[in-house]
Amino acid sequence: MEKIIYITRKIPETGLKILEENGIKYEIGNFKKPPTKKDLLKELKKKNYSGVITFLTDKIDSEIFDAYPNIKIFANFAVGYDNFDIEEAKKRNIFLTNTPGTSAIAVAEHTVALMLSLTTRLVEADEFMRRGKYHGWDPNIFVGTDLKGKTIGLIGAGQIGTEVAKILHYGFGSNVIYSDIKRNTDLENIDGVIRKETDEVLKESDIISLHVPLLPTTKHLINKEKMSLMKKSAIIINTARGPVIDEIALIEAIKNKTIAGAGLDVFEFEPKLSKGLNKLDNVILTPHIASARQSARNMMSEIAAKNIVEFFNNEKPINNIY
Ligand code: GLV
Repeated sequence: MEKIIYITRKIPETGLKILEENGIKYEIGNFKKPPTKKDLLKELKKKNYSGVITFLTDKIDSEIFDAYPNIKIFANFAVGYDNFDIEEAKKRNIFLTNTPGTSAIAVAEHTVALMLSLTTRLVEADEFMRRGKYHGWDPNIFVGTDLKGKTIGLIGAGQIGTEVAKILHYGFGSNVIYSDIKRNTDLENIDGVIRKETDEVLKESDIISLHVPLLPTTKHLINKEKMSLMKKSAIIINTARGPVIDEIALIEAIKNKTIAGAGLDVFEFEPKLSKGLNKLDNVILTPHIASARQSARNMMSEIAAKNIVEFFNNEKPINNIY
């Protein structure tokens, strides 16, 4: 029987080509912004789809599974998969896949870019220039800090954390420490990198960078109490998932100078920002674009498509997440 899948939004040609080469037809949703659950339920009614390529903004849970029991695979175009209800999928033998290993370099580079933007005060300085405030060289304006010799604490050290550590250690001469439920011996092969308890990492680091998935155990991992352990001069970078930080507590901590600032690519109530966040000077905000490089997007498209193909050919997608 002819297979047809639904793709919630446009993805690069690399993946579409793989689907076509394998005789899989597809329809692509025509949404300008992420579809709601209601939109998705309506779209999936249009044809007898056997699979879906989803995005991290598509909440896939029992409502979708029960409405369309013939769909046996949801392939995320993303490394993270907190948009999936894994337990409900398991009960129904539905496959859920992601695209591991596709965006580590992109996200690591973006993470370091956020760090550098804060330490060099780049964004503030750019705004100063555009506003015509520069009236001559001044030794006292926009004085920043070096990354060399600073301690960077990674909370979570999988592929992305490892790439961040390499850039910072080899490129900038920073010291790297990390906490993770699992020991990362690859990471520890870098001179001086050691694993510590999360609280120790928070206390000792000049910059904290988050690289954990969003799980019930990591929601609000960084809360008021944890921020009070950090140095007053420390900054925090989040390119993982917004709810890992209690965003209201973060705003308070920055306002009260408990910590010095933040570089955020993800937000607790995405796409909304918590009140006051965009008013803080020592905060840099980007719209969840850490993996937005053509190379990463092409690979994500390819892997999502390959997961669908493998499922149709062998009933076994490569990257099933449970
Ligand atoms: C992006 O946030 C991803 O999970 O791929």
